[in-house]
Amino acid sequence: MNEHTAQWLSQDRRHCWHPFTDQREWCDPAFEPLVLVRGRGVWLWDSEGRRYFDGNSSIWTNIHGHAHPVLNAALREQLEDVAHTSYLGFANPRASELAASLCGFFPSDSLSRVFFSDDGSTAVECAVKMALQYRMQTGEPKRVGLVAFDNAYHGDTMGAASLGGVSLFFDRFRKFGMPVTFVRDLEELKSLNSAEIAAVIIEPLVQGVNQIHLWPEGMLRDLRAWCDGHGVHLILDEVMTGFGRTGSMFACQQEQVIPDFLCLAKGLTGGYLPLAATLTKNAIYRVFEGKEHVFYYGHSYTANPLGCAAALANLEIFTEEKVIEMLPGKIEAFSDLLRQAFRQHRLRICGMIAGIELRDANGEAYPADQQMGARVCYAARKYGLLTRPIRDTVVLMPPLCSTVDELGYAVAALQSAVEECGL
Ligand SMILES: Cc1ncc(COP(=O)(O)O)c(C=O)c1O
Repeated sequence: MNEHTAQWLSQDRRHCWHPFTDQREWCDPAFEPLVLVRGRGVWLWDSEGRRYFDGNSSIWTNIHGHAHPVLNAALREQLEDVAHTSYLGFANPRASELAASLCGFFPSDSLSRVFFSDDGSTAVECAVKMALQYRMQTGEPKRVGLVAFDNAYHGDTMGAASLGGVSLFFDRFRKFGMPVTFVRDLEELKSLNSAEIAAVIIEPLVQGVNQIHLWPEGMLRDLRAWCDGHGVHLILDEVMTGFGRTGSMFACQQEQVIPDFLCLAKGLTGGYLPLAATLTKNAIYRVFEGKEHVFYYGHSYTANPLGCAAALANLEIFTEEKVIEMLPGKIEAFSDLLRQAFRQHRLRICGMIAGIELRDANGEAYPADQQMGARVCYAARKYGLLTRPIRDTVVLMPPLCSTVDELGYAVAALQSAVEECGL
């Protein structure tokens, strides 16, 4: 270990606190955290000069690769003007342009207003607060029920966490959060009293944190129809699925669904900076007009110009590099590679999102205390692949710019790790 790595790790172990992390394990001298120092395309380098494929797109954010020249240039250009200005009381050019571009993905009479915030959790918080305040201002103050799906994940701030259905993360805080009804599926939702429901929230097509759980085809369309039929707002959390991950720009487009609120973050800036957007319809927006109806919500860095410049560059690359048009071939190759490599295991694939649930030769799950998913991901480092498991499901979510050769590299590296672990 070189002296820089040693110093950074020593400072980290002494002063840093990592998300979702058992700090005792992290600080154990037997565990060697990687210090990531550089990125180019799908590759990352650690402080010891080792190269890795970014197999989970840096926690599901990166879209076009690291250090993309168009993104880098857009940020440099914006920096020459200004890094940050207040959005409270002022407009800024990049935010105006970005809001118009985002609305341009949807028919003009649908999602036409954008509220900016900072990350996936706050995009969800905004949608929920808007959905509740809407009812208070439209003569239905008691219609404040919120419905989410079992095992859903919508973020970690208190409001977003209340909508989370993963007990390990949220049970401790449940009693402090908002009341939320959880349903298994659409059938269970239909059994509830819709007159008490303000909004339903769902991760469309695929629940990421729920070990890449795929919804049945047509479910989203049916959910939209049920919401329409019962005057319930539909909130789509596309924080993970947005910006091409599922094969279309937004997952909702695959079932021709337009939500009442659309939450975007992660890939919005191509994976460069924290920025989020909550889109909604004019009919909802208008209810917030007038002094007594103001939406009292905001953050210091709302609509940060650097973040908005990155998001505009992200969209420009989608067009210039025909990213969506290139996806079908990549998705087919990725699926073929995975099916060939992991016959023994359970695969769940949605576009460029893959969950490989590790199973033994008899198709049985491994005992949880063996931490097979974590062991495989740790072993994968040796073969030049970085990714993370969710329990025993290894997630592969490569940047959309990955070539077929690079996808082959990632799958082969994971296969070597699986074999090394004796699976
Ligand atoms: C579907 C979904 N919603 C919300 C979030 C929270 O986003 P953030 O971590 O940016 O707050 C995530 C994060 O993984 C997510 O997958």
